[in-house]
Amino acid sequence: MRPTFSRLLPLCLALAAALAVSAAPAPLVDPATEKRIDALLAQMTLEEKVGQLHQLSSFFDPTGPMPEAPDEAARVAKIRNGQVGSMLNVHGVAAVRRLQQLAVDGSRLHIPLLFGYDVVHGFRTIFPVPLAEAASWNPAAAERSARIAATEAAATGIDWTFAPMVDICRDARWGRIMEGAGEDPFLGAAFAAARVRGFQGPDLRAVDSVAACVKHFAAYGFAEAGRDYNTVDLSAATLHDVVLPPFRAAVEAGAATVMTSFNEIAGLPSVSSARLQREILKGEWQFPGFVVSDWGAIRETLPHGFATDLRHAAQLAILSGNDMDMESSAYDRHLAELVTDGTVPSAVLDEAVRRVLRVKFALGLFDDPYRRCDPVRERRLLEAPEHLAAAREIAGESIVLLKNSDSLLPLDPEVRRIAVIGALAADKDAPLGNWRGEGRRDSAVSLLEGIRAAVGPRTVVDYAEGAAVTIGDRVAWTDSQYNTTDRSGFRAAVAAARRADVVVLAVGEDAWQTGEGRSQADIGLKGLQQELFAAVRAANPRTVVVLMSGRPLVLGAVAEQAPALLATWHLGSQAGHAIADVLFGLRNPSAKLPVSFPRTVGQCPLYYAHKNTGRPTGGDGRVFWSHYTDTPNSPLYPFGFGLSYTTFTLSAPRLSAAAIGPRDTLRVTATLTNKGARAGAEVVQLYVRDVVGSLTRPVKELKGFAKIELQPGESREVAFTLTAADLAFTTARGTWEAEPGEFQVFVGNSSEVDSSTAFQLRPE
Ligand code: BGC
Repeated sequence: MRPTFSRLLPLCLALAAALAVSAAPAPLVDPATEKRIDALLAQMTLEEKVGQLHQLSSFFDPTGPMPEAPDEAARVAKIRNGQVGSMLNVHGVAAVRRLQQLAVDGSRLHIPLLFGYDVVHGFRTIFPVPLAEAASWNPAAAERSARIAATEAAATGIDWTFAPMVDICRDARWGRIMEGAGEDPFLGAAFAAARVRGFQGPDLRAVDSVAACVKHFAAYGFAEAGRDYNTVDLSAATLHDVVLPPFRAAVEAGAATVMTSFNEIAGLPSVSSARLQREILKGEWQFPGFVVSDWGAIRETLPHGFATDLRHAAQLAILSGNDMDMESSAYDRHLAELVTDGTVPSAVLDEAVRRVLRVKFALGLFDDPYRRCDPVRERRLLEAPEHLAAAREIAGESIVLLKNSDSLLPLDPEVRRIAVIGALAADKDAPLGNWRGEGRRDSAVSLLEGIRAAVGPRTVVDYAEGAAVTIGDRVAWTDSQYNTTDRSGFRAAVAAARRADVVVLAVGEDAWQTGEGRSQADIGLKGLQQELFAAVRAANPRTVVVLMSGRPLVLGAVAEQAPALLATWHLGSQAGHAIADVLFGLRNPSAKLPVSFPRTVGQCPLYYAHKNTGRPTGGDGRVFWSHYTDTPNSPLYPFGFGLSYTTFTLSAPRLSAAAIGPRDTLRVTATLTNKGARAGAEVVQLYVRDVVGSLTRPVKELKGFAKIELQPGESREVAFTLTAADLAFTTARGTWEAEPGEFQVFVGNSSEVDSSTAFQLRPE
């Protein structure tokens, strides 16, 4: 039979999709564009050059009349004079077009503005918070959600997203842990690269591509005591081995821009660190794009006690390689005079401007500054049904089954009566998470709605709030806003639990308890939630707990006593449907924790890849070893952990050789079998321990993972490869290389796998 086009079409589409995912991005630097930039630079005045490095936030309602206020009129004049290079927080085709026109028609050289926005986990369609999405251990899912977010954002005129956030974080007190991929650099690097590919697509010029901005460079997630914006003091080895790998992966994936972090590292604010920006990023990594400061970060070098005044702050930042100033107005006010008096060489200014122009060219803005300003696309693409379908699927893939005693889950959709309890269960806003772009308030499918839509017609669903978690304004968070006194809803909740065959109780935190500026010293279940759990469980022990949060929480009795527990994070627009899919078994959970869950906040920072210490073991009543006397060292739930409705077994790992040389490849294989009665997916994880190093090495490091789907009874061999490059680290000599010696290899379904086999890495 001759192949016909229609027969080949699915194949072509599959091929095109595969290429779209894997195609190398177009390089930012090409000789023809560099010539155009040369020509432009030759025409630009000093003020116009500085203008390209000045970013303004949205300041007036651009769909209304032009501003009357003198300050706003002055800003409009600045745009017309070519003294603004970029704007943030403006979106909507009408608004972007209006401001772009001021720059393109009004300014002498017609250089377009660059419009940036925080599109972190969705624009209108909201996806799981990035920490949740990392629990899928499926970078392709993150690539897909970033692609959709870019498509929606670009349809409203946005050219640039301040994402992905790739900060490794090992301290759940830090509110921004929800924005990253968790505690591990290997997993983090895979997600960082995937998100960049998703946002930027194969071609930055495309009308549905936005430039990515990898942030926050660097080590922001290591803020002391988990307090946002706090001091960071960490070793060069940790910086290179743990913090930087996701940044590097993002840069290698073609990220067009990088944002510096607010924090200092060992006394040096990132925005003024030439080591970070010039030596590592633009030097060693050859990053061709531009660096933008975080909001007001240049100005913040004053309270840091590093710059004497704003002029000095500008000088330090530009000389250190920070190209664009977000909301400090330091370059706008002082850069021209710094260049005129010779403090900043004009070549430094030109180089920064070149980088900004390069990104504008790459985005196609010089060919058509209105390319992302098509009202038809804007109408069509926001809330497209296929985007919501993807959000439901990705949310489902992000749900971690932490406990399932007596196989209470999945529930029978024909069950006679379900009690759904908890304020968060009916909440249509909390599931949207903290960086919800232009997601509409209260637009998520609540857990209650999801359950109602999933059950059969004869099932009765009773809802009882039990107790409000919070009172008052949810966004401006203070401790006084937790409900610690009002138990008036307990009686109805208990009655509903008693009547029901099964209870689904939602506990956790609101979207505004996590995110920027929302660090917490107590990461337990706030308000009356533990009390409510105790009352409900006493009324009906068949209580499934659905945990909603943007971070690992300390669960106490809930984890000990609930027979079933699901970590459902803040899952986005389709949260309720996705949770119901798992509750009723339409989806078999396959997610794994991207971050350790502590037993108590006192264990923070907590992570599986810790060092062994000189006193790693004890017991038998001995006191003097590295431990707590009141809680185990181990987490409640470890990194990489997550259950399924089926049961998998994994054979011991087999190695292709007992020793390899520095140029060899070791093959590690293991056999995975689905022993249960349901199809399911398991994430097989490869860990390595470098037994002795010139600097001490972690007890385990993730070096590979594979998500494998198996039918009941099916087995498959899972294969990983390891080379010396995979074993490299920052040595005592300051080099990045693998050191010969013994390596233990662990293959398991969580970081707590303990059986290992070993091989030797031979010297050259
Ligand atoms: C955050 C950044 C964000 C920027 C612009 C800052 O406060 O730290 O992550 O991109 O604001 O909104």
